Amino acid sequence: MSDVLLVTGGAGFIGSRIVAAARERGLRVRVLDSLRDDVHPASTPPPLPDDVEFIRGDVRDAEMCARALRGVRAVCHQAAKVGLGVDFADAPDYTASNVLGTAVLLAAMADAGVERLVLASSMVVYGEGRYRDALGPVAAAPRTIADLEAGMFEPRSPRTGEPLQPERIDESAPTDPRNVYAATKLAQEQLAASWARETGGRAALLRYHNVYGPGMPQGTPYAGVAALFRTEAEAGRPPLVFEDGGQRRDFVHVDDVAAANLAALDWTARDGTVPDTAVPEGAGRAGAMPDGTARDGTVPEGTVPGGTAPGTTAGQDAGAVRAFNVATGEVHTVGELAAAIAAARGGPPPVVTGRFRAGDVRHITASADRIHAELGWRARVGFSEGVGEFALAAMRPTVAGARAGARANGPAGAAAGAQVRGVVGARAEAQADRPTETAAGPSTRGVAGARNLAGAPADTGGLAGRYAATTSNRFPAEGRR
Ligand SMILES: NC(=O)c1ccc[n+]([C@@H]2O[C@H](COP(=O)([O-])OP(=O)(O)OC[C@H]3O[C@@H](n4cnc5c(N)ncnc54)[C@H](O)[C@@H]3O)[C@@H](O)[C@H]2O)c1
Repeated sequence: MSDVLLVTGGAGFIGSRIVAAARERGLRVRVLDSLRDDVHPASTPPPLPDDVEFIRGDVRDAEMCARALRGVRAVCHQAAKVGLGVDFADAPDYTASNVLGTAVLLAAMADAGVERLVLASSMVVYGEGRYRDALGPVAAAPRTIADLEAGMFEPRSPRTGEPLQPERIDESAPTDPRNVYAATKLAQEQLAASWARETGGRAALLRYHNVYGPGMPQGTPYAGVAALFRTEAEAGRPPLVFEDGGQRRDFVHVDDVAAANLAALDWTARDGTVPDTAVPEGAGRAGAMPDGTARDGTVPEGTVPGGTAPGTTAGQDAGAVRAFNVATGEVHTVGELAAAIAAARGGPPPVVTGRFRAGDVRHITASADRIHAELGWRARVGFSEGVGEFALAAMRPTVAGARAGARANGPAGAAAGAQVRGVVGARAEAQADRPTETAAGPSTRGVAGARNLAGAPADTGGLAGRYAATTSNRFPAEGRR
C-alpha cells in the first residue's frame, strides 16, 4: 500500500522533527539518511520512534533510493550537505550531495511513480535581502571592505549612496545565489521544477529562513548563529556578536518548520484550479518563473485567490511547483538573539565585537504571507518562548566542530577569530542560512560541553505536542494523479 512518507535526511536537525510531527499525525514514516560522519558523531542512528523504518543510505545511490521508495506516496527531501563551506574545496561535496543527490532521488521517484515532493530549500537562494532607497526598490550590491572597516554596516544605495532601508523579501524576488551551497539549493529547486514538469508531479519548495531549536548541532562554527551563541552562553562566556548586532533575520523554530512541511505535504495532494502564473516556465505557460511569479518579478493578480480562507486555497495541478518562505514574518536582530540566549541562561551579556565577514548579508527577513494564505501555515512559536526554551534545551554533539576548527585555524580558515575580518564572500556566505555573525574561535571550543542527543526528545517535549491536536491522523488525501 502506497501510504508511506519518506523523509530523506530524517536523522538530521530538521528532518528528525519532521519525522516526529508526521508520527504525531499518524503517518507511516521511513527515513533515508547516510548519517554523514561530519554531522553525526560515531555515525550512530538517531533515537527514532520504534515504528519509523530507518534506512542508512545515500540519496546518490539509485538502488538505495529505489528501495527506500517502495510503497512511498510522498517525499520530504531534507538530505543535504548544509552550511559547512570552509573553502572552495568543499564545492564537489556540496554539488554531489545536494545536486546529484537530488537528481538521483527525483529519477528514482519518477521511476517509482511517486508524484509528491516537499523540498527543503533555503533563503540563501535570494542572496541579499530586499531593500529600497528614496527612489524605490533597489538591489543591494555587496558591501565594501572600506565601509565595513569604517563600521558602516548598512548597505548603500548604488543610486544615492545613502544607507538602504531593508524590507521583507517575498517569493517574487529574483534568486541570486552567491556561494556554492546557495547555488546547490537553487539547483535543487530547478531540478524539482523539471521533475514536476516532466512527470506530472507536484513540488513545494520550502525556503527555510533561520531555523533554531533543540537538537541543533553544537560545537561547530558552521552550526548557525543560535547554536554558537548557545554554546558560548552554556560555557558561561558572553556571546560574541559581529558587526553592531543590528543584522536582521527571521528566526523560525524547528517545530514550526516541521509543521510547514506537513502543510506543504497536504498541498502536494490538493486538486484544484491552477493560476496561470503558478506553472513553471516550459510547462506550457512561458513567462512564469518556477516560484509562480512573472519574469518581471511582479506577482500577478490571482496567484493567491482572493477571499479564500487560509488553508483552503486551491492547490496546483499536476506539474505545479511553488516556492514558499518558511518564516515567522517577525524581524529580530542577531544582537537580540544573543541577548535573549544570554539572559535565559543567566550568563554575561553579549559582547558586540564590530568584527565582520565580507560576504555576510546584512539583512534578510521574510514575508510569510504566501505560506499563510496558501498553506494555512503560520509560525506558532514566539521568539521569546522559543529562544528561552532553546537556551536551555539539549543540542546535538558533532565531530564537525573539532575538524572544522582545525581547518578554520589553518591557512584556509574562514570563520575563526582573528581571521574573520575580510573573509572572502564565498566562505562566509556559505553559512548564510546558518548565519554566524559571531566570533567563531571560542565557539569551536564548545565540543566538550556538548550533551548527548539521547536526551533531546525529552527536552523537546515542551513544544513537541503543540501540533499533535491540530492535525489529522490520516495520510492527506490524494489529489488528481
Ligand atoms: N538549518 C537551517 O537553518 C536550514 C536553513 C535553510 C535550509 N535548510 C535545509 O534543511 C535541510 C535540513 O537541514 P538540517 O539543518 O537539518 O541539516 P542536518 O545536517 O542536521 O541534517 C541533514 C541530514 O541529511 C543527511 N544527509 C546529508 N547528505 C546526505 C545524502 N547524500 N544522502 C542521505 N542523507 C544525507 C545527514 O546525515 C543529516 O542527517 C537541508 O536540506 C538544508 O539545506 C536548513
